[in-house]
Order: sequence, then structure tokens, then C-alpha cells
Amino acid sequence: MSEDSTAQSLRPRRSNLAVPGSNPKMLEKAKGLPADQIFMDLEDSVAPIAKADARKNIVAALNEGGYQEKVRVVRVNDLTTQWTYQDVTEIVENAGQNLDCIMLPKVQTAAQVQWLDMTLTQIEKTMGFEQGRIGIEAQIENALGLVNVDEIAQASPRVETIIFGPADFMASINMKSLIVGEQPPGYTEGDAYHYILSRILMAARAYDKQAIDGPYLQIKDVDGYRRVAERSAALGFDGKWVLHPGQVEAANEVYSPRQDDYDHAELILDAYSYFTSAEGGARGAVMLGDEMIDEASRKMALVIAGKGRAAGMQRTKTFTPPES
Ligand code: GLV
Ligand code: MG
Repeated sequence: MSEDSTAQSLRPRRSNLAVPGSNPKMLEKAKGLPADQIFMDLEDSVAPIAKADARKNIVAALNEGGYQEKVRVVRVNDLTTQWTYQDVTEIVENAGQNLDCIMLPKVQTAAQVQWLDMTLTQIEKTMGFEQGRIGIEAQIENALGLVNVDEIAQASPRVETIIFGPADFMASINMKSLIVGEQPPGYTEGDAYHYILSRILMAARAYDKQAIDGPYLQIKDVDGYRRVAERSAALGFDGKWVLHPGQVEAANEVYSPRQDDYDHAELILDAYSYFTSAEGGARGAVMLGDEMIDEASRKMALVIAGKGRAAGMQRTKTFTPPES
């Protein structure tokens, strides 16, 4: 892992808005919502007989434009179906220049990511598109995918995010619950998702990818969404899916630093830079108020400051060097 993470230099994805490709009205409406990412779905939110039309809707929506800074993603069907190759070919050949990433669901092995990587390269060559620009978002939705997540994260330089798919994952491991993201009845101590989230996060951080949490299906319960999102945000996740406009603002807020933390991080960076300089005494461990800061503090501060800057936050405090 490099000292300054490339995952942080990718565009923010605090809110990842899911839109069924079979619904042109929702595709249109999504453009105006303040989500960081919009992903147009060809997979589980689209009925098998509607998939061919959904591909056309998505190509038209991408080429129409109007997404401002949003990351534009299409989720194709997984590689155990008959649809994946046509999804990728039709979308990328016809709208590849207006697309940032392909999301591959239910990824189980690195070979599946490599298939997508090579297919994208072939299409880029055929169409004369820039090679390697289109990224891959790998969704981990079953036990085999989680066991192989380290290889999946390294399978291609195109991989930008590792995403947790809780609904499919719960089914895959026979979890005794139907409420996605909430603790299964009977699990009264701890967090039943902690291992899975941490496993994904370690792979993402080890290989400089963004870690994204999946959907919360009780779409009217924004407090519930917030509570579940706080868990993965606290661990270090970068964002979460949103299935409803009402969840967008909650995601943007939960995955941004709090104002106090952002100000504190910027102060640490300024203070540390001053105190380690010749003018500031060339010191390595110094006091900032009541707190001792050193190189590790700078690294932690860089993460919070990076997230705050990416979210467009403004600082409300400035560092003043002490009078000598
Ligand atoms: C999303 O695809 C999920 O299965 O949770
Ligand atoms: Mg799924």
C-alpha cells in the first residue's frame, strides 16, 4: 500500500444510488439527486424478460448526460447467468465513453474479475476508446467471494471498489433472518456483520480500494438506515448504497467526517507541519493543546481531512504558531 492512498484520490462515493434499468423515469429522476454515485441496474431489480429493454434504457440514459460529478456505473448480471457478456458488450460498445465503472455482482473468484477486465480491454480496442479507463466495482455476496476477497481486490488494476451485498450474503451463509443489515434474532451480543465488514475492509485497504456497504431495505426507516450506516462508517467504509431519495442525505452525512473532526484533522496537519519544520523547532512529537501528536497522528488526520476535502467541507478553525 502506498503512503498516500489512491483509494482516497478516487471520487467520493458516500451515497451509491441504485436505479433499476427497466425504469426510464427513475433513471431520469436520479440525475437530479445529490448522490455521489448512480448505478443503473441490470441485475436483481430487473426481471429476466425486461433485461433487453433495460440495456437500451441505460445506454440512452448514459448518452443523454447530465450527471454532473456523479460516478456513473452499470451493474451487469453475474457470471453464472447467460446475460453478462451481452450486458457488458451492449452497454460498453454503445455508451462506454459516458460510463465510469462496471459493477460485477456475486463475484466469487479473481478469474471472474479478469474475464471482465479482458472483455473491457477488447471492447476498448475495438471501439478506439482509451484503454483501462473504465473501472470495476466487485460485489462480494457469498461465502466463496469473501474467502477469495484478497485475490479479487488484486485481480485487475481496474478494481476501484469492493462492495458488500448483504441480502445475497445472508442467504449464502444461511443467516437466520430476513431483515437486511439488522442483527438476526437470537444474536444478542455483538454485531453479526462485523467479521464480514472487517474482512472486506482489510482487503480494500490492503490494496487501495474503496469499501462500500450495501443496501438497507426498510426504505422508509431513515433512522434505521443511519444506525446501520454508522456501523460501517465507524469501521472505515467509504459509502453505502441508497435505494430511495430519502436515504441520500443520510449517507452523505454519515460517511463525511463531523465538522469538529474535520477541523481537528486540519489543525493537526498544520501544527505537525509547523513543528517538524526548522522554524517550528524540527520536532517529531509535540503538544497540540492537551494532545500529543506525532507522525501517526498525521496519518490519521490525513484520512479525515481527505474525506472532508473530498466532501467539500470548509474548515472553521485555523492554526496559529505559538509566540516564541
Ligand atoms: C445487494 O445486491 C445485496 O444482495 O444485498
Ligand atoms: Mg445482491
